[in-house]
Amino acid sequence: MASVSSAFEQLSQRLLSQPSRWLVTGCAGFIGSHLIETLLKLNQSVVGLDNFSTGHRRNLDEVKSLVSPAQWGQFQFVEADIRDADACRQACQHVDFVLHQAALGSVPRSLADPLTTNAANIDGFLNMLVAARDARVRRFVYAASSSTYGDHPDLPKVEETIGRPLSPYAVTKLVNELYAEVFARCYDFSSIGLRYFNVFGTRQDPEGAYAAVIPRWTRAMLLGEEVSINGDGETSRDFCFVANSVQANLLAATTVNQGAVNQVYNVALNERTSLNRLFSMLRDVLAETNPDLRNIKPVYRTFRAGDVRHSQADIAKARRLLGFAPTHRLKEGIGIAMPWYVSQFTKSSLCGI
Ligand SMILES: NC(=O)c1ccc[n+]([C@@H]2O[C@H](COP(=O)([O-])OP(=O)(O)OC[C@H]3O[C@@H](n4cnc5c(N)ncnc54)[C@H](O)[C@@H]3O)[C@@H](O)[C@H]2O)c1
Repeated sequence: MASVSSAFEQLSQRLLSQPSRWLVTGCAGFIGSHLIETLLKLNQSVVGLDNFSTGHRRNLDEVKSLVSPAQWGQFQFVEADIRDADACRQACQHVDFVLHQAALGSVPRSLADPLTTNAANIDGFLNMLVAARDARVRRFVYAASSSTYGDHPDLPKVEETIGRPLSPYAVTKLVNELYAEVFARCYDFSSIGLRYFNVFGTRQDPEGAYAAVIPRWTRAMLLGEEVSINGDGETSRDFCFVANSVQANLLAATTVNQGAVNQVYNVALNERTSLNRLFSMLRDVLAETNPDLRNIKPVYRTFRAGDVRHSQADIAKARRLLGFAPTHRLKEGIGIAMPWYVSQFTKSSLCGI
């Protein structure tokens, strides 16, 4: 896989000499914090909005430590909730591009509490759409989801062919797409939806009942806890390192290809990895520094409600219309993310947390 994507490299060069103003919602979360880090490093002016419901101030602190003081000076943080329409309106003032990430992720969370997920993911989304429309932003890019493919069995997943949603979370992400489409039709609004498939990387939260599989297992392995697999381990996913998702956001926000706008795109690698294989990969990388992990085995549990069995993205559309070219495959992403988790857990055990 190429180490540098040419369309993205060209875009990065252009952005460096042409600063714009960006709004990143969900900026204290995993993907949002990577978006602000990249944008600030490209000398952009960034407004970040978050209510810390699942995000953390420590993510903003880490970004601060990774950019220059001058770049950090271009960041303005707004602690607010997207369920507050006025706050959304304020945050969109004088903004060129919106990267809307704020939402409550996790299928099980939405099964346990559909009302709260609906409020953030649908009411909040609509507030952001209206605010962005009224502020006449140039482009509204939003986090859609592979969960929209629902029960459709075809592989790889092609944007135009979706099934029925399997969870309240999947409903919210489908509704986002429908609203964006209607805003394009009725208000001449310019948006792009990015259907992320299992994004992973540094700063993805390993704690709590709703943690994603890579940080959850990594945490368990590092703490010597049991790693459990839902089902037989042959469930598969298209794991996407966060740098690839960042690239897709910036390309989507700035594309001047009118045929590319008001569309949704798969964002992943077009690769399928089983949970059993993922377990071995994580164990083997962590065992390089912690030999005790070399022979650990997972515990198999029952399949989880709402989960799709297999997931793999066709990314031809994003390649063709956006110039998307993933720079990191799963193994490379794991190679970057694991040392970060090791350092986090070493730090917390030193602090006695
Ligand atoms: N991580 C993945 O694999 C993945 C896959 C598909 C879609 N997505 C979507 O990508 C987006 C980002 O996900 P993430 O993995 O970074 O999750 P995350 O939980 O780390 O980040 C979400 C951020 O949004 C904030 N937020 C939530 N509700 C809010 C509200 N009402 N007002 C203001 N801020 C609010 C949270 O505090 C958090 O900082 C979400 O929309 C998610 O649904 C993620």
